[in-house]
Amino acid sequence: MLTQLGQDISLAAELLTAGELVAIPTETVYGLAANALDPDAVVKIFEVKNRPRFDPLIVHLVDFADAWKYAAAIPDWAQKLASRFMPGPLTIVLPKLGIIPDIVTSGLGTVALRVPSHSMTHELLSQLKFPLAAPSANPFGYVSPVTAQHVLDQLNEKIPYILDGGPASIGVESTIVGESNGKPVIMRYGGVSLEEIHGVIGEVDIMLSSSDPLAPGQLESHYAPKQKLFFDSDFFIDEYDLDSVRTIRFSTHLEGVPYEQQRILSPAGDLAEAARNLFSAMRELDGEESAIVIFAERFPDEGLGRAINDRLQRAAK
Ligand code: TXA
Ligand code: MG
Repeated sequence: MLTQLGQDISLAAELLTAGELVAIPTETVYGLAANALDPDAVVKIFEVKNRPRFDPLIVHLVDFADAWKYAAAIPDWAQKLASRFMPGPLTIVLPKLGIIPDIVTSGLGTVALRVPSHSMTHELLSQLKFPLAAPSANPFGYVSPVTAQHVLDQLNEKIPYILDGGPASIGVESTIVGESNGKPVIMRYGGVSLEEIHGVIGEVDIMLSSSDPLAPGQLESHYAPKQKLFFDSDFFIDEYDLDSVRTIRFSTHLEGVPYEQQRILSPAGDLAEAARNLFSAMRELDGEESAIVIFAERFPDEGLGRAINDRLQRAAK
């Protein structure tokens, strides 16, 4: 199958309506989309990504006003967060209705709903008669794609079309909020910061389970490059040949390592800019021919720094 890359929203809509997969741009990362109401289309996502069936997918809507079609209940906290952050980098997990096939939710009684803000994908969703199930458009366990080229690099000849919407403006996945014991809980750090969530619904519990097979995005080894990566462990550097050392840093260079071997994600010290550059830096370093070892520093534990640290921690091995 030849993979085409372009900006033809009508073609993307036609393919999706015919039960095919299309990679779509979102403000967080590129998604690999299928008709969420068609189990035969959704199963292709799992095959192309090599994704275990126990890892549920996010369902993308054109407007949160449609949530009642797919969710059995919309608690007050969810409505408040949706009003403030949707469209945007937020996913809300709610009890599901039967119209959502079991393969989408891996048999769970809940469905994850998100309203992306990217204008092309918004237009695409408004042309469709169904919502889109879409995980990040990378092979399972690997770094998420933030450009159309990243998708092509890994899914070439596996899908018919990539809708090219330019580089993702946020660069890390959506923040996931669900409910536990009647209270909202953060299940994944992402593009909406903890501070922003607090600002709308007050204190929330954090449940970033690392061993729960029901949320593999939270599995300890995920977002992982092929090269070795250390997180927050610069003291191991001396054990490696200096030529092989690379760094991922926030705003400053690490002393003793040549500048050209270092990736500074935001010289100005802006965590949003750092988040936008994170996955591209990981991919670039991973593409190096020889064996290297990547030392990523811990970013400030605030704002989007929490999502960055979470991804680096899971990429470490
Ligand atoms: O920003 C994003 O969220 C991107 C773009 C494409 O929308 N999507 C994304 O999808 O990151 P994915 O599949 O890579 O990560 C989705 C995460 C997984 O960790 C999955 O376990 C969790 O969402 N998830 C999905 N449905 C769930 C549910 N019903 N309960 C708990 N977790 C769920
Ligand atoms: Mg993913």
